[in-house]
Amino acid sequence: MQTSYAPGRVELLGNHTDYNEGVVLSAAIDRGVTLTGELTHSSRVSLRSSTLGEAVEIDSAALVRCKENEWANYLLGVLDVFKKNGLPVGGFTAQIQSDLPLGAGLSSSAALEVSTAMLLQKLFGLNLDRLQIAKMCRRAENEFVGVNCGLLDQASSAFGKKGHAIFLDCRAETVETIPFPDGVKLLITQCGAPHRLSGGEYNEHRLQCFDAAARLGAKALRDVTSAQLEAGKANLPELSYKRALHVVGENERVLQGIGLLKNGNVKGFGQLMFASHESSRRHFENSTPELDTLVEIARGLPGVLGSRLAGGGFGGATVTLIERDKAASISDALVSKYYDQTGHLAVAHLCEIADGAR
Ligand code: GLA
Repeated sequence: MQTSYAPGRVELLGNHTDYNEGVVLSAAIDRGVTLTGELTHSSRVSLRSSTLGEAVEIDSAALVRCKENEWANYLLGVLDVFKKNGLPVGGFTAQIQSDLPLGAGLSSSAALEVSTAMLLQKLFGLNLDRLQIAKMCRRAENEFVGVNCGLLDQASSAFGKKGHAIFLDCRAETVETIPFPDGVKLLITQCGAPHRLSGGEYNEHRLQCFDAAARLGAKALRDVTSAQLEAGKANLPELSYKRALHVVGENERVLQGIGLLKNGNVKGFGQLMFASHESSRRHFENSTPELDTLVEIARGLPGVLGSRLAGGGFGGATVTLIERDKAASISDALVSKYYDQTGHLAVAHLCEIADGAR
C-alpha cells in the first residue's frame, strides 16, 4: 500500500489572473485529500470515495469520462494525461479520504488531482518534479474534466510551504515562497450556497478577458497597465472592460502585497484583500450577495485585517485574515451575525498555512 496527500488552497490576492498570464499569491492549507492505493498488476482501475460512499471500476486501457460519478474524472483525467505523456502507468486502486469541504472554492478538485499524481508517481516509480505535476494536473482538469482553469490551484497544492505564501508567476511558470507574518490565521467561511466552476460563468468571463486583451493589442491582460486600459476603454465592450479592470488591478495588488509582506505590513495586506473583493463585486461580478455579506460583517469585527472571496467566486467561501488571539471569537461572531442577517448557516474553518503535496 502507498499513501499520498495533497492540500487545498486559498487564493490570497490575484483573482482570475492565472489564465491571463499574470501573478497570484496563494497558500496551501492544513486540509486536503489522502489517497491510499496499490497496483492491480492489470489494466483494472478501482476507485472508492469514503466521503461519498461510492465506487468506480474502469479499464485503464479504455479511459472514458464517468458520467454518474463525476469525482472519478479528476483521478481518471490525471491517469489519461500521464498516458498521453508516454509515462508507464496502468491499473491501480485508490481509496479517497478528504477533510477538505467539497464545492467550497478551496480547490478540492486540484487536491484530488495532485494527490492522484503523487500516488501514481509512487506506484509506478516515476520521477516528475512539482511543476510537471502541477501542469499535468491542470491539463487533466482542462481536457478531461472540461474546466478551463489556470495553473493556480494545482501549483498551490503542489508547492505549498508551512507559514509561507506562494507567489506564482503564471507566464514564467516560476514559484517563490514568501514568509507570512506570525500572529495571524486564515478563517475560511463557506456561505452555504453551492459553488460550481463547471457552471459556465467561469469560462464565459475568461473569454471576456481574452476579448479585452485582443482588442487592446496585447498578448494577454498581463501586458496591460491601468493607464493603457483607460486609454483603450473606448474600443472595449463594457463587460470586457470591467473584467480587464479587475484583472489588471489584481496583478498590481499582488505585487504591492508582496512588498507589504516583506515589510511585515499585515494591515496593509489586509486592506488589499478588501480592495480585491470590492473589485470582484463591482468589476468581475463573480461575487454573490452571500459572499458580500460575509465580507461586510468581517470588516466590522475587531481583529479582522482583510477579507475577500476565496477563489473562482460565483458562490463558495470567503477567506478572512485575522489576528490569531481573537480567532475563535471572530469565527463565532461571523457565523452568528451572518445567520441573523441572511438566515443561512455558514460553516467556518480556522486554517493554518501548511505544506504542499507529499
Ligand atoms: C479557480 C480556478 C483557478 C483560478 C481561480 C480564480 O480557482 O481553478 O485557476 O482561475 O478560480 O483566480
